Amino acid sequence: MKLLATGGSGFIGSNFVRYILKKYPDYKVVNLDLLTYAGNLENLKDVEKNPNYKFVKGDIADKELAEKLVKDADIVVNFAAESHVDRSILDSAAFIHTNIIGTHTLLEAAKASGGKRFHHVSTDEAFGHLGPNDPPFNEKTPYAPRSPYSASKAAADHLVMAYYHTYNLPITISNCSNNYGPYQFPEKLHGLFITNLLEDKKVPVYGDGMQVRDWLFVEDHCEAIDKIIHEGKIGGTYCVGGNCEKPNIEITKKILELLGASEEMIEYVKDRPGHDRRYAIDFSKIKSELGWEPRTSFDEGMKKTVEWYKNNGDWWKKIKSGEYLEYYEKQYKPLRIRE
Ligand code: NAD
Ligand code: DAU
Repeated sequence: MKLLATGGSGFIGSNFVRYILKKYPDYKVVNLDLLTYAGNLENLKDVEKNPNYKFVKGDIADKELAEKLVKDADIVVNFAAESHVDRSILDSAAFIHTNIIGTHTLLEAAKASGGKRFHHVSTDEAFGHLGPNDPPFNEKTPYAPRSPYSASKAAADHLVMAYYHTYNLPITISNCSNNYGPYQFPEKLHGLFITNLLEDKKVPVYGDGMQVRDWLFVEDHCEAIDKIIHEGKIGGTYCVGGNCEKPNIEITKKILELLGASEEMIEYVKDRPGHDRRYAIDFSKIKSELGWEPRTSFDEGMKKTVEWYKNNGDWWKKIKSGEYLEYYEKQYKPLRIRE
């Protein structure tokens, strides 16, 4: 099996590439990644010499490159994306380029190579948000995205499904809830809060901190994608969630507790514009069809995550200082969402 993973140098993609190389020693994995600010070769340093692994630096929206790599693969798993909601609020151009045009370019390449198997990694944010008593999202929930990020992901999902109906492209889509775990870029909730506290800095909780997310440990997400690419029904979408709805303030207090920090380290700051109030996932379809359910409990996942950041200061300190970007000659635009 030759698997083309796009965005494999990011958070979930790198966890997935490592998971696949370990679980299937006869699979070959090519990682196509542009190495934006969120992509980091250090995320896969431990496998870079594995003969079954190859890194290619490039843009999924580069037609020629996409055609060549997709043709050589048996399956494409598309992780590549601009993924941070706050950045999409500041400037959404890159989100349109990668999430929509990039996905379209890959779909065209998959079609051109005779209908290549294509799995698209998407998000529950495409469904919009929920009130406190609404039932969780499922595969039949209508799309209603509310941020430029989620709108661009929703557009990509529609394109993927359109290529199934129109051209019979053998696709699957997963709509997953919030992930946490090792290698998460330290601008997302867990990465930012844990590293801030390790640096003795306060943690910025948006608004009242009562927004709810359904948290899933990243390795469980990798396992769900593994099931879908091997056993999923072509043309099917799968909702993947953690059965772990928590308000942000509870996550924050758990991180404080695990690091022995006091609640004085919490700083309530201006809310995110259009902040989605609640996400929750009903994953009964993937459970009954493919036998997947989350394995990692909240306590176990949180402990593993905090330990990982404690033990990998070199990784996140280079990111927070911008040193890793100088190395890759990249441009860094700091977030100014909370002025
Ligand atoms: P990330 O931002 O950590 O990584 C994205 C990766 O894509 C980076 O390595 C980046 O360099 C690469 N990339 C960006 N633009 C590219 C381009 N034009 N061509 C090639 N590579 C490019 O993101 P993540 O959190 O790992 O998310 C991965 C995927 O999973 C995304 O599609 C995201 O929408 C989806 N998702 C994420 C979560 C979550 O909680 N993080 C939950 C559900 C779904
Ligand atoms: O639901 C899946 C989505 O989860 C993915 O599609 C996105 O790629 C991923 O980034 C994530 O989106 P969120 O916006 O939910 O994640 P984020 O880590 O940015 O924020 C989680 C919650 O924490 C959200 O309610 C905003 C809040 N927050 C976040 C940051 C960075 C804060 O209160 N303070 C912060 O500094």
